[in-house]
Amino acid sequence: MTQPKRYLITSALPYANGLKHVGHLAGAYIPADIYTRYLRAQKRDVVFVCGSDEHGTAIPIQAAKEGTTPRAIIDKYHEAMKQDFEDLGMSFDIYHRTSEPIHHETAQEFFTYLNDRGELEVKETEQYYDEEAKSFLADRYIKGTCPNCGSDRAFGDQCENCGRTLSPDELINPVSTLSGSAPVKKKTSHWYLPLGKHEAFLREWILKEHKDDWRANVVGQCKSWIEGGLQSRAVTRDLDWGIKVPVAGADGKMLYVWFDAPIGYISATKQWAIDNDKDWKPYWYDADTKLVHFIGKDNIVFHAIIFPIMLKLHGNILPSNVPSNEFLNLEGDKMSTSRNWKLDMRDYINDFVKKENGGEQCVDMLRYYLTQIAPETKDSEFMWKGFQDAVNSELVSIFGNFINRTWVLMHKLCGGKVPKLHEELLDDTDKELMKEIGNAKSKIENLLEDFKFREALFEVIDLSRKGNQYMQKKEPWIKAKKTTDDGPQSTEAQKEIDNCLHLCLQLSANLAILINPFLPFTAKKMLHMMKVVEKMLDWENAGKLKLLSVGYALRAPELLFRKIEDDEIKFQVEKLKAGLVKKEEQKVEAPKSETAALKSEIVFDDFAKIDLRVGTIVTAEKVEKADKLLKLSVDLGFETRTIVSGIALHFKPEDIIGKQVVVVANLAPRKMRGIESNGMILMAENKDGKLHFVNPDSIINPGAPVN
Ligand code: 2FM
Ligand code: ZN
Repeated sequence: MTQPKRYLITSALPYANGLKHVGHLAGAYIPADIYTRYLRAQKRDVVFVCGSDEHGTAIPIQAAKEGTTPRAIIDKYHEAMKQDFEDLGMSFDIYHRTSEPIHHETAQEFFTYLNDRGELEVKETEQYYDEEAKSFLADRYIKGTCPNCGSDRAFGDQCENCGRTLSPDELINPVSTLSGSAPVKKKTSHWYLPLGKHEAFLREWILKEHKDDWRANVVGQCKSWIEGGLQSRAVTRDLDWGIKVPVAGADGKMLYVWFDAPIGYISATKQWAIDNDKDWKPYWYDADTKLVHFIGKDNIVFHAIIFPIMLKLHGNILPSNVPSNEFLNLEGDKMSTSRNWKLDMRDYINDFVKKENGGEQCVDMLRYYLTQIAPETKDSEFMWKGFQDAVNSELVSIFGNFINRTWVLMHKLCGGKVPKLHEELLDDTDKELMKEIGNAKSKIENLLEDFKFREALFEVIDLSRKGNQYMQKKEPWIKAKKTTDDGPQSTEAQKEIDNCLHLCLQLSANLAILINPFLPFTAKKMLHMMKVVEKMLDWENAGKLKLLSVGYALRAPELLFRKIEDDEIKFQVEKLKAGLVKKEEQKVEAPKSETAALKSEIVFDDFAKIDLRVGTIVTAEKVEKADKLLKLSVDLGFETRTIVSGIALHFKPEDIIGKQVVVVANLAPRKMRGIESNGMILMAENKDGKLHFVNPDSIINPGAPVN
């Protein structure tokens, strides 16, 4: 495989409208940081850019909430996010901002280039307008019910719940977020990017060229966009916050935030080049550059369809890959800023990263857990108990334990120096370990090149597990007894001890190299213990068995990771729950209508796909540590199913046994709290939020179809 000449790695630019949570961190930042650190260790030419996304309606809306100006909001949150990323070890080459003049110029030039070449269309359309606020309702100024998932937390650009990209016209029951009134339609003109014109290109480029090397979720989303019919997308808005449309007479028109934000990657590269006396152009124009966008799943369409069309039209290179992660849930529920169900990076930093609590090792502990549970192919779950287990049972008990044992024994049995390797005494166990060390590099390398960070990290930990097993087999402490029992003439036993610790030390050096992209602070600590310079972490050293020279004196061991105590976990879970209650008390809710809004119309064939059956609940029990969930077994006549249902706050398990319910019997299985749920029971929700059974008026045979 020929290597690209250079790499440009991007992480999605977060909106500067609030602190970001660990779901964001796991999605677009940690994987990009791991990849970049790996490339740097390979001595490749790589630039890693990120920065704050400071336009769009999210900013003035937050300013109104906080009673301040958009400028004050972006200044405040830009600094806060930058600091949080730095504290958690993100190694951006530049953390830029889209409010910088260089970005405004770059985005305007881009627009002009496309407009001058006739690649944009001007269209007059009717758009939602708030007559009270005298304002067009772009993006987050309008909300309603999502046509995709039915959530009432959908905005004119995107649904907060399912992440689906929307346009205001798709919202059901749209309401202005400015005045709360129902909007009217009013004529306005805008510039549009006709996506449909590029369908053939997208089909060829994504659905053929990248169908195998891009993640299935990315190709899948693109496919459904392409096949759903590519509509022209407006790239301008009627707003007073943003980048001005660079056309005479276009007063009050701004570039759409999703037009300018990805161009932020280019302007960040330009600024980086200025700061470092480099040329930015090859990174965006030379075909020998590998451009990789790390994003969350709600950003797929923009990075895999819209921005690439813009780049193509502008003569730039296209992304080689767009590794997108799914969502990270927290303790059984979706992470949500509006409901305060989240773990902000800042909260973790305050609670764990303080010096007295462990400092940098806690950064690596979070990086470890977030990589281990990364939602690479499907949504995953941050559980505080899972965090504790990952740290205590893997980092402390496997990786940390191996390094610590090696160091302690080397000091005790080998005088604190790297012992000699007596090749003539190497047995099969030694040779097997040597082989494992040799193989690990390419295994991990291939996984990293494939953006499979979870698996790559597993391999690193697995190698340290093999180190422990090796040591356990060799039992140098038993052999040490032999040297003292048999007197100084027992050089044979000492030689075996030497061999064991020599290999364990070479393995430790390898582990430092391999863990470095994932847990850089740990690698740094290991360098200190080995008394070697950073150069040793060069990736090309991985797999080598002579990294530490014989006779070299090493430092005393340091604790790599501390244990996470039960009360810390308890505190975090309670804090999360208390935060939720507090927020819900404060929340000023728009008055709810008596009945929920109707979902969008479906045809009979859609309905006919759903297999509804009557079932009888035969057992019901609480799901451990999930307040809302009950695990049910439901008799469907032809079989008894396990169904996990979110009704625990409404019914006691013992009260519902024997009840009949309507079951969606052909719903794909879904894991909840590790339990596979095979179907869903239907309940009616009253306007006060209470759930009621929907069941036949008298007991009938389970399995009966409901048509
Ligand atoms: O979803 C978001 O938070 C956006 N601000 C991401 C922008 S990524 C890029 F286009 F800048
Ligand atoms: Zn939705």
